[in-house]
Amino acid sequence: MAFNHKHLIDITEYSADDIMQILETALVMKEVNERKVKKLPTLKGLTVVNMFNEPSTRTRSSFELAEKRLSCDTLNFGGSSTSSVKGESLADTMETLSAYKIDCVVVRDKHAGVPEYISHHTNASIIDAGDGKHQHPTQALLDLFSIWRAKGRLDGLNVAVVGDIGHSRVCGSLIPALKIMGASVTVVAPNTLLPARPEVLGADHVSSNFDEVLPEMDAVYMLRIQRERLEGAPYPSLREYNMLYGLTEERDKLMKPDAIICHPGPINRGVELDSFMADHPQRSVILDQVYSGICTRMSVLYWLLGGNENGLAD
Ligand code: CP
Repeated sequence: MAFNHKHLIDITEYSADDIMQILETALVMKEVNERKVKKLPTLKGLTVVNMFNEPSTRTRSSFELAEKRLSCDTLNFGGSSTSSVKGESLADTMETLSAYKIDCVVVRDKHAGVPEYISHHTNASIIDAGDGKHQHPTQALLDLFSIWRAKGRLDGLNVAVVGDIGHSRVCGSLIPALKIMGASVTVVAPNTLLPARPEVLGADHVSSNFDEVLPEMDAVYMLRIQRERLEGAPYPSLREYNMLYGLTEERDKLMKPDAIICHPGPINRGVELDSFMADHPQRSVILDQVYSGICTRMSVLYWLLGGNENGLAD
């Protein structure tokens, strides 16, 4: 199988076939992660830099584990411990790291566009691990992997993406990825948490009435209220937000019996999602999303750094 991408920066550059290829290989990686010895020699001798200039629990830990399980060398780097605090530019930082003959940079940054920018200052593959309010493509791929396994398909599913749409980089990748795979997407949010032109998101429908939308949905994807990016007061109180847009225990009754609940984490419990729903034994796939993170990121690293050239060893 061919895979004609060097970087994963913009999910809209990936076709349905590219995405399905990543999901199918993630299934193989899932099987590897269920063995006693969870390791492949596939990327032995290659070097991946994890450059996290913004906090992360899930993305950072799952990339580090994915790299170790594929046997590559890793360099963890970023934030206030680097010479950027002495005024070194991002371009000079990348050119310095590239002098070590690195193969891949996984980058998270609070500024949108950093992954694209650094791709012009290194020959390494770049993976966007979340840039500002722009994109988070590996999050979208792991979300697709969880939804695909829970529902058995992506094509034709009705998916609601609910909450802080305007500040979410998850949306920037998830909505286009769902559309590429043939799902129907409904965005649900108060007008104050939508972008100025919601149609640019590419969703099929935009609604501010959660209760009207909920009964039709196969999957409900709750977004975290991005308190660190809020300006002004987009809703009267967190309590009111929870009443109108939170996935509460009462809303369980409005959902299809087999509808699932997703959330990228970290969760604001009692705001966008009540504990009853976050921990719902039949509906919630939130911890499966976390597990999917390692399987999917192993698959992305595998394809970007060589794929079949390296072979999948037993
Ligand atoms: N979903 C997500 O990106 O989580 P972290 O910020 O913990 O990596």
